[in-house]
Amino acid sequence: MKTFLVTGGAGFIGSNFVLAQRAKNRARIVNLDKLTYAGNTANLESLTDDPDYIFVHADINDGPLVRRIFEDQRPEAVVHFAAESHVDRSILRPDDFIQTNIVGTFRLIEEARAYWSGLDGKSKKTFRFLHISTDEVYGSLGPDDLPFTESYPYAPNSPYAASKAAGDHLVRSFHRTYGLPTLIINCSNNYGPYQFPEKLIPLIILNALEGKPLPIYGDGKNIRDWLFIQDHVEAIGMVLDRGRAGETYNIGGSCEKTNIDVVKTICLLLDQLCPDSPSKPHADLITFVKDRPGHDRRYAIDAGKIKRELNWAPAETFESGITKTIHWYLSHKEWTSSIKTGAYKEWIKRQYGSD
Ligand code: NAD
Ligand code: TYD
Repeated sequence: MKTFLVTGGAGFIGSNFVLAQRAKNRARIVNLDKLTYAGNTANLESLTDDPDYIFVHADINDGPLVRRIFEDQRPEAVVHFAAESHVDRSILRPDDFIQTNIVGTFRLIEEARAYWSGLDGKSKKTFRFLHISTDEVYGSLGPDDLPFTESYPYAPNSPYAASKAAGDHLVRSFHRTYGLPTLIINCSNNYGPYQFPEKLIPLIILNALEGKPLPIYGDGKNIRDWLFIQDHVEAIGMVLDRGRAGETYNIGGSCEKTNIDVVKTICLLLDQLCPDSPSKPHADLITFVKDRPGHDRRYAIDAGKIKRELNWAPAETFESGITKTIHWYLSHKEWTSSIKTGAYKEWIKRQYGSD
């Protein structure tokens, strides 16, 4: 069985990926995570007794430790999720975004290169460094623009997007300059189980369940291209297995929705699923608030390349994915209450001026 060194495996996408790999016994996992406010080992509780899952509490910026992990664990691939990932936090305080998404990515790939250089023959050829990135590096689309392809020019608008773009460029350069077999995924907005409730969809579900205001930035007509997490996890596995070294793959759900439509859909589903809720109709909780500075108007992904080359297509529609997501949050009250502690409360107060 292969060994994957996963970074940020205690976060939203990382933990869904790790759980899926271990469920299928597809790879041994070494999960390196700093456990910032967004990392949660409870996501991976089911792997406590799994001998093929190893957790290392560490920062990707810790070069000597990362080097030791490569030497001891000898991974066949790195799957790099670790990042600061929330746009609003990057607007408030970009420092951590630079340190992790740029400097940390550099440290990690530099250690990966050193380890890879010492491999021989087939291992050197089949090694992969997969960098997980975002569609936000491409900037904002106009209403009639075609969706982002892999050759779309970079124009990041937030400190988050700029830091991810810098990471992408470093990864690309390590392929071009040193021949390191890299892969980059630029994915659209994900949603599903284990997402930290600072992001739109879980924030709206949890606020609605508590009868709190549902904050919509600006006019609510910004568009995102939503993808259910399991579809992304499936795509990551395909790119690792069959993606061509040095290539980028754009992944998205072909599912463009305005924020107001997303929020109204969640409200309607909650009206049906929680008929006794005192907050019914939940749409009455919708509150328009001050817009995000530099708020990108529209993202949309052209996923034609991964469809053509790897035969990937999303299995979920927005309706099926959002229904599964709401069911998950409704049936994991322990998880949600454990997450709504210190760092979460501080953020909500700072960002929305309420508890
Ligand atoms: P997340 O914020 O939920 O999780 C990030 C994880 O990285 C956490 O477990 C955190 O503890 C860890 N981490 C942060 N800094 C670290 C460091 N210096 N060293 C080690 N670990 C560290 O993020 P997510 O939503 O799961 O996103 C994962 C990746 O996917 C990110 O690179 C993000 O840019 C990208 N992405 C996310 C989305 C999305 O919709 N969530 C869409 C496209 C791309
Ligand atoms: P978010 O989940 O933060 O993802 P991203 O900014 O990376 O796309 O936000 C998704 C969209 O929802 C984005 O257009 C901003 C908007 N939004 C709100 O309207 N209200 C909120 O409270 C949040 C967190 C986001």
